[in-house]
Amino acid sequence: MGNIIIKSTGSYLPERELTNFDLEKIVDTTDEWITTRTGIKTRRIAAEDEATSDMAYEAALVALKRAQLDPADIDLILVATVSPDMFFPSTGCIVQNKLGAKNAAAMDLNTACSGWIYSLVIANNFLVTESCRNVLIIGAEKLTSLLNWEDRTTCVIFADGAGANVIMPSDGSSRLLSFDLGVDGSYEKQLNVPAGGSRMPASEKTVREHLHSIHMSGNAIFKIAVNKMRETFQKSMKKAGIKAGDIDLLIPHQANMRIIESLRSFLKLPKEKVYANIDRYGNTSAASIPIALDEAQAKGLVKRGDTIGFAAFGGGLTWASAIIQY
Ligand code: ACO
Repeated sequence: MGNIIIKSTGSYLPERELTNFDLEKIVDTTDEWITTRTGIKTRRIAAEDEATSDMAYEAALVALKRAQLDPADIDLILVATVSPDMFFPSTGCIVQNKLGAKNAAAMDLNTACSGWIYSLVIANNFLVTESCRNVLIIGAEKLTSLLNWEDRTTCVIFADGAGANVIMPSDGSSRLLSFDLGVDGSYEKQLNVPAGGSRMPASEKTVREHLHSIHMSGNAIFKIAVNKMRETFQKSMKKAGIKAGDIDLLIPHQANMRIIESLRSFLKLPKEKVYANIDRYGNTSAASIPIALDEAQAKGLVKRGDTIGFAAFGGGLTWASAIIQY
């Protein structure tokens, strides 16, 4: 573990809102179903000409400004995303160019909704080995570009946005206390975008059959998610030598309010110690935790010295958790 600090936060949410009532006009669903099953009321949708890197760039600008850093001060850019602008160059490269971060290495990280926590851990490891001084981590997604708007089981859940953070060595008490990362690739078929890669390149058939969009066995994923969120966070607490009662704020991945509630009740935490904004933004995958952290910071819910927990799971399946002294 390392003496690192989340020096700054930043986020970007596209302007356009899509409410549950709007979705009622697109697919056979109701505001009541979406609200009770997921906790989502509305979400943000990127403009047609707005790509993942555009949102990542906007969030990064805010984080850099708040850290009082110039883009040239960044040594490494990590972009966690499952909805990159294109296969290659990586979204990291595109963001590097937009920012003019001329001294930075850059790469993308695909661990779906767990991506931001994976990025935090990788940033930590580059910083503690003194390979870098300033790392920019970004979670950014345009998941609406991967949606089949005729599939009511997915199009009501996923949305767009970006969050960014500058991570640097800490000269005070801020530190990463613990983390836990894991995957189980045997669930590949329960949550994926089947076509477009080397297994099933794009063809007329793949387009016709909507195989370039997210396919999800929601109910199967739900059950595993509940268990994995508990398991991974328990492991991180054990490694950090703390109990749930020591957590000042838990920021879970915003996948489903029922999954967040289940983790909260398992840990016996009061409502005010678990941050949720899924009602307003839906599931933005790798962007959900950094967006939530930025909001929590703006509301004064996160202070230096606080013990902050993060937990996520996502396509892969992947899971991740971390505990920091903020
Ligand atoms: N509106 C109305 N009815 C619907 C809708 C909808 N939008 N979607 C599904 N239904 C119906 C189903 O057809 C089913 O009907 P039936 O009983 O007649 O067959 C019924 O509602 C129940 O369906 P379930 O899938 O069992 O509903 P569930 O309570 O599991 O909720 C949900 C579905 C919200 C998808 C939930 O399973 C979930 O959140 N799963 C986890 C998703 C997730 O977090 N994925 C991982 C992260 S994403 C990433 O990594 C990119």
